[in-house]
Amino acid sequence: MLSWDDFEQPSQQQKKSAEPRPAPETLQQEVSEPAVSYESHSAPASPAAQSTVTTAPASDAVAAARAAVADLDPAPGLEELEMGAARIQVDEKRIINCRADLNQLVPFKYDWAWQKYLDGCANHWMPQEVNMNKDVSMWKDPEGLTEDERRIVEYSLGYFSTADSLVANNLVLAIYRHITNPECRQYLLRQSFEEAIHTHAYQYCVESLGMDEGEVFNMYREVPSVAKKAAWSLKHTQAIGDPNFKTGSVETDQELLRNLIAFYAVTEGIFFYCGFTQILSMGRRNKMTGVAEQFQYILRDESMHLNFGIDVINQIKLENPHLWTAEFQQEVTQMILEGMELEVAYARDTMPRGVLGMNANMMEEYLHFIANRRLSQLGLKEHFPGAQNPFPWMSEIMDLRKEKNFFETRVIEYQTGGALQW
Ligand SMILES: [Fe+2]
Ligand SMILES: [Fe+2]
Repeated sequence: MLSWDDFEQPSQQQKKSAEPRPAPETLQQEVSEPAVSYESHSAPASPAAQSTVTTAPASDAVAAARAAVADLDPAPGLEELEMGAARIQVDEKRIINCRADLNQLVPFKYDWAWQKYLDGCANHWMPQEVNMNKDVSMWKDPEGLTEDERRIVEYSLGYFSTADSLVANNLVLAIYRHITNPECRQYLLRQSFEEAIHTHAYQYCVESLGMDEGEVFNMYREVPSVAKKAAWSLKHTQAIGDPNFKTGSVETDQELLRNLIAFYAVTEGIFFYCGFTQILSMGRRNKMTGVAEQFQYILRDESMHLNFGIDVINQIKLENPHLWTAEFQQEVTQMILEGMELEVAYARDTMPRGVLGMNANMMEEYLHFIANRRLSQLGLKEHFPGAQNPFPWMSEIMDLRKEKNFFETRVIEYQTGGALQW
């Protein structure tokens, strides 16, 4: 009889693969000890199957398993499993506090969420696809980069290498269970995987360049302008991450909104922008092009995360207008401004002088422009009238599609299901 052990020994596996494949009948005879009876199966078994699939005497363990399955209640504590008792009607769907079955993906209500899931999948990429050779020689060459440029690479990898883990943990441990809509959850699952890829990309850069991993991965605790941003995000995950937290009251629903705004509009929508602009500006000057290409892919993903978050927040507002009080709007405006202030401080710390055709004042102007954009996306009044975008090329990069000019440096192909060998 075949066993898994046979496949773990290469010599035997090679021997087996050299032998001609046994006829199906022989295989059926070899598999002669089915643990589960097929007697109750409604489809009539073929004569060949009848001769080989027989009811084996049950061991104690199998008997216990049969008893447990027979006793299974088809509708257990419905609330806990988020399973409804009926077929779902599209009108019952809501982003938060929905009582309808969360295991039925369709019919869709929020087509935008499903579309973003599809778009995210169409943009799939992996860090190892980017060739890092030129970056490695530039990083190791004492003349390769100026001191200020090196500082930008170190700070960017320092902030982002842990920031994406904060975002992923917030999605999985805090937000997910409170978003009560299957198509939005489908996107959250895709986003969570993308955040894992981003953390992988930063780790891949740090490893390729031979940087001090302990130093880079601890910057979010040890370097003040980096640590403050991380602390601000972490502060907003605590309440929702509490296992006893439940939505359903004005206070807790507003707390969930605070979290969504802190992570989508501020962390992903403001905190990422100085570092992205700096590294992409480096790439435009033909420096650290591998790192810049990784950041380019990440920025494209992040702009979709941001847009999804804004859509979710606005849909919650629409479905729960009582949450969006004048007082709460004022609080949200302040959150956006706090994020902007922290990012300006980060810009000043990372750019004590002009570098790469930019400086901290230009970045401040850009962050005013970004803060205005986040406020108006949330339906709030812009705070910096007339703020201009000094880096219009950033928007072009965000809209860049994969097939346009990516993957010129692709070094590996995906392994697909067809590549698996038994
Ligand atoms: Fe990310
Ligand atoms: Fe993200």
